[in-house]
Parts: sequence; structure tokens; C-alpha cells
Amino acid sequence: MTLLVRQYQPADRDDIADVCLRTAIAGGDASGRYSDDALMPEVFALPYLAYDPSLVFVVTNGHRVVGYVLGVADTRDFVEWWRREWAPGFAARHPRPGPPTGREPAFTEARLLEAGRDPDRMLVAELDEYPAHLHIDLLPEAQGQGLGRRLVDVLRAALRGRGVPGVHLGFDPSNTGARAFYERLGFVELPSSTPTAPLFGISTG
Ligand SMILES: CC(C)(COP(=O)(O)OP(=O)(O)OC[C@H]1O[C@@H](n2cnc3c(N)ncnc32)[C@H](O)[C@@H]1OP(=O)(O)O)[C@@H](O)C(=O)NCCC(=O)NCCS
Repeated sequence: MTLLVRQYQPADRDDIADVCLRTAIAGGDASGRYSDDALMPEVFALPYLAYDPSLVFVVTNGHRVVGYVLGVADTRDFVEWWRREWAPGFAARHPRPGPPTGREPAFTEARLLEAGRDPDRMLVAELDEYPAHLHIDLLPEAQGQGLGRRLVDVLRAALRGRGVPGVHLGFDPSNTGARAFYERLGFVELPSSTPTAPLFGISTG
């Protein structure tokens, strides 16, 4: 099946939430792991669609979205927007952790709720050089075909066009495949990176 990269459209929203959920635990499926399958997308995907959809690019198979890259150009501005526009609704929808699933990952539901309420976690030390950040996820059927590289290239070009010097990202240290991918693309580990919270960056040039 032919896979194509294109700009995000509003009708892609549910598919993007689904891809986020199914790649959320070190690249693997998080379905049923938290009390509410909406939680992961509400923290790691949907805010990006609401904030700046022009920096969202998707991979489609002609029927549905099977992958995406989500970007923000200015993380400081995004944090302010999140505090004002996203955190209040999120906190109202998810006031406390739901009943335990018995299958909860190391990144607990309590920490996930905290991440939704507190955007300051995104204020990394290297924002002057790498003001943008991204999330990228592809379903297994779309992996290993050069599409991750294409998505990162497309986002870097869009950021470069806006005069943004660099883009960073964080990832789960147990996601060794993601680390190998980022290193292969030329991302470098940033000074404030730690073994438990790796942080990589790359220039847009
Ligand atoms: C990680 C991910 C985005 C990579 O995208 P991809 O389309 O599979 O990767 P590509 O095919 O574009 O690979 C680009 C390069 O990285 C290398 N690479 C990709 N995955 C790799 C891996 N697991 N180990 C070693 N190298 C890898 C490829 O060999 C390729 O090298 P080349 O271009 O020199 O031939 C994708 O596999 C994915 O979404 N995985 C699940 C979700 C996830 O982990 N997201 C990241 C969360 S931080």
C-alpha cells in the first residue's frame, strides 16, 4: 500500500490520537494500560493539533493516518498557551487517577496527569539554541521505510522557513530504537540530558 506524507487536516484528529496511544510505551501499545485511553493523546498529541496545526505532518495509507510528526516552533510560548488554554480543561476532565488497571507502566497515571497539568516540564535548558520540539510516531506497518526520516526532514524545513534555529526532543530511555533513529539522523545529546530523561537536539539548517 502506498504511504504518503502530507500536511495535517482536522479529520485526522482521531487517527492521530490512536497512533499516539498505540506507540506510547517505549514505542509500543499503551491501549488499556491507563484507566482512560484518552489520557496519553491528551498530553502528547492533541495539544499540538490545537496549538499549531501547520507544524503537524502525517503519513497516510489512503484510508487512515498511520504516523505523524507534531511540532511547536517556540516551546516557551507553547508552555504559556498550555497553562492558559489546555491545562484547565485537562484538569477538569481528569481530576484524579482512575481505578488501577493492574497493567500500569513505569510512567504512572499520576505522573501522566501531572504532565497534563504542568507544562513547565517542557522548559529545558537549551531553548535558546533549540526553541522548537517535536514528537514523532509511526504504527509498526509504517516503520522502517524511511518515513520517519522524511517526517523529520519536512518538519525541519518548515521550522527553518520560520527562522527557527533548532529542534529538540525527549524520549523514554528504554526506547532504544528511537535513540538509534535519532542518532542516525544526526541528533546530538544535549548537555542537560540525563540517563533517565534523555534529551536530543538538531539544527534546522
Ligand atoms: C522511531 C521511528 C519514528 C523511526 O521511524 P522509521 O520510519 O521507522 O525510521 P526510518 O525508516 O526513517 O529510518 C531512518 C534511519 O534510522 C535508522 N533506524 C530507524 N530505526 C532504527 C532502529 N530501531 N535501530 C537502528 N537504526 C534505526 C534506519 O536504519 C535509517 O537509516 P538510513 O536512513 O541511514 O538507512 C519509528 O520507528 C516509530 O515511530 N517507532 C514507534 C514509536 C516511537 O518509538 N516513537 C519515538 C518516540 S520518542
